[in-house]
Amino acid sequence: MADSLATAFDAFTEDYDAGFAHSIPGRWLRHAVWRQVAPHLRPGMRALDLGCGTGEDALWLAHAGARVTAADGSPAMLTATAAKAARQGVGDRVATRRVDLNALADLNALADLGGPYDVVVSNFGALNCAMDLAPVADALRVAVAPGGVAALVVMGRFCAWETLWYGARLRRTAARRWSGRSTAAIGGTTIPIRYWTPGDVARAFAPAFQPLSIHPVGLFLPPSDLFAGLERRPGALSRLMRWEMRAAGWRALSTLADHHLTLLRHV
Ligand SMILES: C[S@@+](CC[C@H](N)C(=O)[O-])C[C@H]1O[C@@H](n2cnc3c(N)ncnc32)[C@H](O)[C@@H]1O
Repeated sequence: MADSLATAFDAFTEDYDAGFAHSIPGRWLRHAVWRQVAPHLRPGMRALDLGCGTGEDALWLAHAGARVTAADGSPAMLTATAAKAARQGVGDRVATRRVDLNALADLNALADLGGPYDVVVSNFGALNCAMDLAPVADALRVAVAPGGVAALVVMGRFCAWETLWYGARLRRTAARRWSGRSTAAIGGTTIPIRYWTPGDVARAFAPAFQPLSIHPVGLFLPPSDLFAGLERRPGALSRLMRWEMRAAGWRALSTLADHHLTLLRHV
């Protein structure tokens, strides 16, 4: 991982759970993703959490009985994941591994990513920090067992909430994703970000991976920079959470959500 990315996410680690992962909308959205992934899990399976952050998904997978590799480029995120796993009594089922999503082409995928895996989860935008999806797809083709499932949640290129909210305020943020490339200030460092449509994901992973389903994530709930304001309005929050749940099957609107989930099978 480039030093600037590691510095950015190391600095972000301490605030990550309070600001996103443990916020009410953040938990709600993660549960919406878990509802789609859960039918593909079974005890004893081998799982990879790619870009694990503070380990929320790695721990969920471990509690579901999987043996998990939690991979990330940020040493501080990996330390936070290992500490949580130990606190929750699943330290023996969660191994951490430092991996750079932008150097996968240089790696021996099976040796460096571990595997073979039955399930891969890459949640909440880790793959927006990969500048190219093709090497990620190549690495997962080797690291995921035939029949295995990948659940990839990435930020999309057209987010209705962001465009309407910031457009109404005449802020350039309204259009920041449209070209597919932008920057984000993370932990005081500016890093490059790519935005991917569901079509970008499907094309990059074909033909080895075939889409099983595609879901909007954050269609009615707004992007995380608006969570704090929303949490101060519990009535609006619970209405939006209800609508979000109904929208989980609306594949056609995935392109307008903050994130989208693509479930793929390695054929
Ligand atoms: C937005 S967080 C998502 C974390 C987690 N998946 C979740 O659902 O909460 C993005 C994660 O990707 C990791 N990341 C960013 N760029 C990376 C890279 N080039 N290689 C490996 N990990 C990277 C960051 O360290 C961070 O933990």
